[in-house]
Amino acid sequence: MDSLTAHQHRRLLLKFLLGSPLLSLTGCSTSDTKTKEIDEVIDLLSQPSDAINVFDFEAFAKQKLPPAHFGYLSTGVNDDLTLKANREAFSKYKLRMRRLTGVTDVDMSVDLFEKKWSTPIVLSPVGSQRAFHEEGELATARAAQARNHLQILSTVTTSSVEEVAQARGGPVWYQLYALTDWNGTLDMIHRAEDAGSEVLVFTVDLSGGTDNRETLKRMKKLDTRTCTNCHSDNYFARKPMVAPTKNAEYARDLNWDFVDKIKNATKMKLVIKGIETAEDTQLCLAHQANGIIVSNHGGRASETGRGTLECLPEVLNVVKGRVPVLIDGGFRRGTDIFKALALGASAVCVGRPYIWGLSTFGQAGVEAVLRILTDELAVAMKHAGTASIKNINSTFLTA
Ligand code: LAC
Repeated sequence: MDSLTAHQHRRLLLKFLLGSPLLSLTGCSTSDTKTKEIDEVIDLLSQPSDAINVFDFEAFAKQKLPPAHFGYLSTGVNDDLTLKANREAFSKYKLRMRRLTGVTDVDMSVDLFEKKWSTPIVLSPVGSQRAFHEEGELATARAAQARNHLQILSTVTTSSVEEVAQARGGPVWYQLYALTDWNGTLDMIHRAEDAGSEVLVFTVDLSGGTDNRETLKRMKKLDTRTCTNCHSDNYFARKPMVAPTKNAEYARDLNWDFVDKIKNATKMKLVIKGIETAEDTQLCLAHQANGIIVSNHGGRASETGRGTLECLPEVLNVVKGRVPVLIDGGFRRGTDIFKALALGASAVCVGRPYIWGLSTFGQAGVEAVLRILTDELAVAMKHAGTASIKNINSTFLTA
């Protein structure tokens, strides 16, 4: 062993740990993962700083996670066409970069509801994070604190809003799914308020249910383990924001009156997530929404939709700067983020990439993903000669 390099030592240790139930993500062993595949991926990534881009974490996460859990993360619906459309939308715009601008330092800070954030990169709400790492949302919160990112916490978080706010060292935005039980819904709203949340993000794109999550279903079939050995069949049983309500179910019969009901029930600012059209943007404003997130739920709600970047201009044309407009959906590169900011987005939310980081290296993996995206955005800003986010505009884009 003495003759091994530090890298070889790390590789052997990681290989041992990956095959060991001691490091299992959910109490379930990954030892059925083929050794050859582990070898390949360890060669690729033995520590977070080895990653060249965020996709390296995806490759590692795919090897490391139980197939059903990776399937849950990666699935779209039906043929995954909306999911793909999100990525394809970025290539419809090319960048018009400037030269000799003298810009060497960039300030990425943005203001959202009179609060300054050092970056426009926001952590999207992603449910069930303990399915990806034993520390789940708490590791994400610590990474968000370490790098000062805004974190949006899912209703179906596996750690409570109180614990996450404590780990974050400050309030998070709280994402709301309405339940059929109004008192249970109200209870979550009050808990988020009491934990200091100032913004409630109401997700509206799943109220019609979802199309078929076929990728998830197929990957579940590849998973030879018995799910109930690790967790119960009841989806809400391990969701501390929901479990207190008996027989919890998502409310499906939602309409704009319900937005008024929520608005009247909270002092938090109300951001509506899942908007794609000018018509719904008008309704958001008519119902006093304080902000909008252009989103198609990462392609997980309805099929054959447009990429969110394609939806952004029609939303912005209605809003005309009156409320912040954020966006999510397929952001994997600093240049993707730059393009949304150039079109006029106030900030950009990322989801799956930081979960790939979480799955592989916990907090350190989330931080590494955020660092890569930040560094890439910084390069794009320097090439454009934009020293601050407000200087990024549509002159830097062409079809
Ligand atoms: C999903 C929900 C939890 O997309 O947001 O699975």
